Amino acid sequence: MKQAWVLRPQVMKDVGIYHDPHSGLKESIRLAQSIDLEVVRAEIIKLRKRRSSTLFGKGIIEELSHDLAKSSVELVIVDYALTPIQQRNLEIAWFCKVIDRAGLILEIFGKRARTHEGRLQVELAALTYQRSRLVRAWTHLERQRGGFGFLGGPGESQIEADRRQIDRRVGQIRKRLVRVVRTRELQRNARSRVPFPIVALVGYTNAGKSSLFNRLTDSGVHVEDQLFATLDPTMRRIVLPSGQSAILSDTVGFIANIPTDLISAFRATLEEVMAANIIIHVRDISHPGNSTQNRDVKATLAELGVDFGGTTILIEALNKIDRLSSELRSDFLIQDVGVARQIAISALDGTGCQNLIGMLDSCLTTNRDIIDLSIAVADGRAVSWLYQHGEVLTRTDDNEHIRLRVSLDSLKKARFEEEFGAE
Ligand code: GTP
Repeated sequence: MKQAWVLRPQVMKDVGIYHDPHSGLKESIRLAQSIDLEVVRAEIIKLRKRRSSTLFGKGIIEELSHDLAKSSVELVIVDYALTPIQQRNLEIAWFCKVIDRAGLILEIFGKRARTHEGRLQVELAALTYQRSRLVRAWTHLERQRGGFGFLGGPGESQIEADRRQIDRRVGQIRKRLVRVVRTRELQRNARSRVPFPIVALVGYTNAGKSSLFNRLTDSGVHVEDQLFATLDPTMRRIVLPSGQSAILSDTVGFIANIPTDLISAFRATLEEVMAANIIIHVRDISHPGNSTQNRDVKATLAELGVDFGGTTILIEALNKIDRLSSELRSDFLIQDVGVARQIAISALDGTGCQNLIGMLDSCLTTNRDIIDLSIAVADGRAVSWLYQHGEVLTRTDDNEHIRLRVSLDSLKKARFEEEFGAE
């Protein structure tokens, strides 16, 4: 595992979502760990002012450089928006790779993007980011040599070539994106590709999505499903008490202050929630900024076009109630607020998780009928219609018939009977 340092500059007058800078630092550490880095030092560095060439003052740079030389650290993450020049100068001073907040977030998105469009958007953002760093670094070197950029000089042609290569790739990606967006509806039509309803977990990083994901899949409701277990560890099949199956899907976490250039990439990684029948918004109710986070998540989902109250059900899981005093806890009972159903839980100790499972079950089974059908083998169209529109619970085939037990909502059941005749 690569060793890294995390430095979080705190410039006076900068305000952020955190009242407490240590929560911000903790978040940065977790983000770094999520891309498999071993954080061996993490520190808040207070700055009275930002230096345009290096961000940090000379004294701090030298002190850190001294410590770095004694360590085997290969990467320093500066959790801040570094200019390309600052990044470059810090790399020179510290003899190691330096990435900033945008670079870190891009790595995370790169790891988590699942849909074709998501991957393309992330690559596009990464290339644009890289390209700006190439150009500025070059300008900077030219200036250092006292030369004139327009006369050219060593290094220039290489950078030009790199830049042209990036531009070519950007051109290709843009063309592909146009095609992908054109067929987006098809892509999004995951509901018909997956034979079960989809339940997506969304929320801020550190809200407890993965803990809840594990609790829901480990609490006896999870069945091993080769397909999803091997294809994607963030998707699992769960079986609810009624026997109804669902696909539980964990998504990339929201991150405070995503650099503007990366917002479309982030949205693209979230695209798949469009296909969800139920979205569970996991909220860390013990976090001081949780109302702002809530507004952020809701606004982003609405901008993505999620139709709450229509095709998608929203459940707010108010997580980490174990951290609240008992008086506060009683304020968070199960309730309906606007389009959302709220439920208080603790993914850590399991409080409320059975209620949540019950809620999922009833949301998914309301208006659903379980029907047994026996369809002639020749009638492949009816069988594929059922796979597409319903949930096939069991199937037995013999030479002449396919016997299916299917869960269908009442509207679909009526349509099936109309099209293929009642059994
Ligand atoms: P990302 O993967 O960064 O998006 O985070 P996440 O939302 O998946 O959060 P994760 O499940 O990794 O949990 C983050 C931290 O919160 C971990 O240290 C968990 O142990 C802790 N945590 C999760 N749920 C609870 C809870 O109900 N109570 C308490 N006290 N801690 C919790």
